Amino acid sequence: MRFSAATTRKIQSVFLSEVENGIRQRPSSLQMENTYIPELPDGTESGLFLALDLGGTNFRVILLELENGVVVKEDVKRYHIGADLRVGCGIALFDYLAECVSDFVIGQGVQDIELPLGFTFSFPMIQHSLEVGILVTWTKTFNCQNVVNKDAVLLLREALERRGDTKVNVVAVLNDTTGTLIQGASQDRNTAIGLILGTGSNACYLERADKVQHWETERHGEKEVIIDIEWGAFGDNGVLDFIKTEFDRENDANSLLVSSFTFEKYISGKYLGELTRITLAKLTKEGLLFEGHAPGALLTPGNLTTDLVSHIEQDTLDGGSNNTRDVLARFGVTATEEDIAIVQYVCEIISNRAALLVSICLATLLEKIDREESTIAVDGSLYKHHPRFEGWMNQYIHLLAPGHKFKLMHAEDGSGKGAALVAAIALRLKKRLEWEAIGD
Ligand code: BGC
Repeated sequence: MRFSAATTRKIQSVFLSEVENGIRQRPSSLQMENTYIPELPDGTESGLFLALDLGGTNFRVILLELENGVVVKEDVKRYHIGADLRVGCGIALFDYLAECVSDFVIGQGVQDIELPLGFTFSFPMIQHSLEVGILVTWTKTFNCQNVVNKDAVLLLREALERRGDTKVNVVAVLNDTTGTLIQGASQDRNTAIGLILGTGSNACYLERADKVQHWETERHGEKEVIIDIEWGAFGDNGVLDFIKTEFDRENDANSLLVSSFTFEKYISGKYLGELTRITLAKLTKEGLLFEGHAPGALLTPGNLTTDLVSHIEQDTLDGGSNNTRDVLARFGVTATEEDIAIVQYVCEIISNRAALLVSICLATLLEKIDREESTIAVDGSLYKHHPRFEGWMNQYIHLLAPGHKFKLMHAEDGSGKGAALVAAIALRLKKRLEWEAIGD
């Protein structure tokens, strides 16, 4: 789980070659999807917008008022999406989303206003345009039937039409990383990369438009465009097998979507806890931990969540052991000093490998885009709650991309604010085309 310098370099070069292959539409585990967002907020975005955020276990509906690119008012409501909906029938899921939208819109008294909507759909999509997103595969905790290969926007529009009680108008579909980059750019013009480190993980970046081959709509002299890397799937074609350990194999076998999203399973919040649990269970079985007696709770997949790993990592930072004892007590373990040290070490190794892997990819991107200064806009629960991730990332990226000035910036709620800004950009692009058509 500790990488040598040679392994680190190898991962860096494999990632770069997958990025280049993907963008050229050659076989690659990286989708490198065109988002059709060719510009950043310019400070003219104003009006009332709706944003939907689907990706975690909560679905959020948000009403935002923008004034010159700044959110001046925001109302949000969270709706829980139960496991039955997350792995049930697709139509039922989209009907539920539409029900939530109308509940919220009617609750806000804006059902008679034609509201432009930005739909943050944080799953891999093939985009035919800014408002068409075909689901490639579910990830994280979702696995609904009859949605893969279908357009998420169309499914949403149809569900809204079936109800017919609101006037919302879906103008853009986007990924949470894209929303984060856009939200970051509204605060810092140097933002060139968007990153999510949460339940899932992914990144996007600003690419030169002439390098992008997958472009189905008419081009209008765009200089750059946001590319959604979909790095969760990095290694699904075997290119990362040289770092796979027995713990990763078991983690994959215990997951909802086996043999897919290889990279995400090394780095994201959905999996770091489980990787830790698997490792601790193995050490116990070998008689190296808890005097060889693992409590049943520790042997059950999914029982150790990543927030507990963060909790234990706080002890390592502070040189303490209270959090670790507290977590182990929840599992019914009375640990010795030695057990505590081992558990803390395992949490550190697994967290550190994740932070290094993420940093390797970010350093590669920084070198590739080669700007004078780049800001990386980041959001996600793992980044926010793990006490050591940010520090490690700063340290490793400096080391791996020397001479490239960068800044990690926490961009809060790209899936909401970013989605409203993207909807505003979509309207601006549409209007510009209409004016051009008049000019012709
Ligand atoms: C999805 C990405 C998303 C990421 C973070 C991944 O599982 O494939 O589209 O950006 O999670 O939410």
